[in-house]
Amino acid sequence: MPSVLITGCDTGLGRELASQYAQSGFQVVATYRDIANRLPDAAMRHLPLDVTDFAQFAALKRSISDEPIDVLVSNAGIGLDIGALGSLDFDYLRSMLMVNTVGPLKLVETFVDNVAASEQRRIVLVTSRMGSIGSNLSGGHYGYRASKAGLNAIGRSLALDLFKRRITLILLHPGWVNTAGGGVDAPVSVQESVAGMRNVIARLGNHETGQFYTYDGQPLPW
Ligand SMILES: NC(=O)c1ccc[n+]([C@@H]2O[C@H](COP(=O)([O-])OP(=O)(O)OC[C@H]3O[C@@H](n4cnc5c(N)ncnc54)[C@H](OP(=O)(O)O)[C@@H]3O)[C@@H](O)[C@H]2O)c1
Repeated sequence: MPSVLITGCDTGLGRELASQYAQSGFQVVATYRDIANRLPDAAMRHLPLDVTDFAQFAALKRSISDEPIDVLVSNAGIGLDIGALGSLDFDYLRSMLMVNTVGPLKLVETFVDNVAASEQRRIVLVTSRMGSIGSNLSGGHYGYRASKAGLNAIGRSLALDLFKRRITLILLHPGWVNTAGGGVDAPVSVQESVAGMRNVIARLGNHETGQFYTYDGQPLPW
C-alpha cells in the first residue's frame, strides 16, 4: 500500500488531501498543528506537527522512523498579508516566512530518506501563483509573495539536488480555493482542487521534477 504524509490537515486542502488519499487506498499520515483537529478516521495515523517547531519535526521523525513515504506533501501555510507600505505587520511577515518557506525545507530535510526508500519517491510543495514574480501584475502582499517565491526557489534547488536519488519534486498551485485561506469568493472547490492535485501527482514523470504547475496541470511562470 503506498503512503502519504501531509502537513496542515487541521482544515482546508490538507484535510481534504488526507481524506481523498485514504479513500484511494493510501496509508495516510495526517499531521496537525493542533492534534485536537484530527480527522475521525481510525485507519489514518494522526500526529502533531507545527512546522515552525523543530523539536516536533524530531519527534515526528522518531514516530515514522525509516518507514517509506511514497508522497510527501508540504501543505501547511498561512496568508494573506494585506497591510500597505507604511503599516506593515513585520511580526506576521516573519511568521509567514517561517511557516511557508522554512518549514517546508525542514520537512524535506527530515523525511528525504523516507521518500528515497519508497517506490513512488514524490515530494509536493503546495505553493501559490502569488509566488510567481513573472505573473505579479497587482503588487502588494509582500510577505506572502516573498514566502512562496522563496519556497519556489527552495523547491527548484531541492529538485535538482534530489534528482540523483530519483525523487520527483514539484511546486503545486492549488488554484484559488474556497477555504479559510482562499475565502468565500474563490471559484474552485476544495474537492476539485484536491482531485486535480492528486491527478497531477499521480501521473508525474521523473523528467518533470522542479516544475511549477497549477492543480490542473498547467505550467506557471516563475
Ligand atoms: N486556498 C487558496 O486559494 C490557496 C491558494 C494558493 C495557495 N494556497 C496554499 O494552500 C495551502 C493550504 O491552504 P488552505 O487554502 O487549505 O488554507 P487553510 O484552510 O488556512 O489551511 C492551512 C493549514 O495550515 C495549517 N497551519 C498553519 N500554520 C501551521 C503551522 N505552523 N504548522 C502546521 N500547520 C499549520 C493550518 O492549521 P490551523 O487552521 O490550525 O492554523 C491549516 O490547517 C497553503 O500552503 C496555502 O498557502 C491556498
